[in-house]
Amino acid sequence: MQFKQIGVLGAGNIGSGVVTDLVLHGISAVVVDISQDILKRAQAAVLNNVRCVPLLSKTLPRVTPEDALQRMVFTTDLQDVASCDFIIENVTEDWHVKKPVYEQLDRVAPREVCFGANTSCIPITQIASATGRPANVVGIHLMNPVHLKPTVEVIRGFHTSDGTVDTLLRLFAVLGKEAIIVQDMPGFVSNRISHLFMNEAAFVLQDNVATAEQIDSIFKKCFGHKMGPLETADLIGLDTVMRSLDVLYESFRDPKYRCCPLLRKLVHAGHLGRKTGRGFHAYPGLE
Ligand SMILES: NC(=O)c1ccc[n+]([C@@H]2O[C@H](COP(=O)([O-])OP(=O)(O)OC[C@H]3O[C@@H](n4cnc5c(N)ncnc54)[C@H](O)[C@@H]3O)[C@@H](O)[C@H]2O)c1
Repeated sequence: MQFKQIGVLGAGNIGSGVVTDLVLHGISAVVVDISQDILKRAQAAVLNNVRCVPLLSKTLPRVTPEDALQRMVFTTDLQDVASCDFIIENVTEDWHVKKPVYEQLDRVAPREVCFGANTSCIPITQIASATGRPANVVGIHLMNPVHLKPTVEVIRGFHTSDGTVDTLLRLFAVLGKEAIIVQDMPGFVSNRISHLFMNEAAFVLQDNVATAEQIDSIFKKCFGHKMGPLETADLIGLDTVMRSLDVLYESFRDPKYRCCPLLRKLVHAGHLGRKTGRGFHAYPGLE
């Protein structure tokens, strides 16, 4: 099977990265979100990513903004993905948002089409249960920025078939990505661990043990991490981190996943990280 056109549901932080990766590798995308404003922002983000590729990567294909535009269709109508070969879903990390999307998608997409569920923490078996094709649903946990990250966590749901995993691996081969395949549990491997880090860093900040700069510097300078936990949370989006912690807390009923009140307060204040220009750190020029 060739990947000519892929449906991308949700054009936020990660969805824009997915579209960038697809168009860079010559695959067309039908991009669905809930408003024209969001879609316009997503288009601008993709074009900006495409322009910056020569500065940030030696290996990614070079594509002109004009060619990128030819490979994207933006729509608020989910019906428009009916002709797509594969679907990558990246809507808000909230079961009450994702469930109706899958129910509708299941009615729109031909029976044989596979769904890649891009989620931080929601179990893939749960997502698949909202469809009549659980064997065709596979979990994808893409890293941010999607087009610059060569490795992806792939999650097998309870019913995910070998054929579905093979289809996804062929897509990732086209995108030049290595997949690490794991079993299904809330948060999988990466986020079950990394969200503890980020949340505890927020508690350390809340307790005035150190400034945000100091906390991140310790991780970068002492541990050699590329980014500190608070910078990572800002990159992901504090709303997504908060929702993911809530999913982990609800799933395991373990207090170690309770979301730090300071993190929740920043979300309610509208400081979501890089995407709003301010989170634990300030990002002048990104507001
Ligand atoms: N941010 C990250 O680093 C990251 C990494 C891996 C996975 N994820 C997962 O990817 C998903 C998206 O995360 P994000 O950071 O891009 O969030 P985001 O809030 O930036 O974007 C979510 C998008 O989904 C759209 N949406 C909501 N309801 C919709 C609907 N019914 N139909 C179509 N679009 C709809 C929203 O309008 C928004 O544009 C989440 O499940 C998240 O856990 C995020």
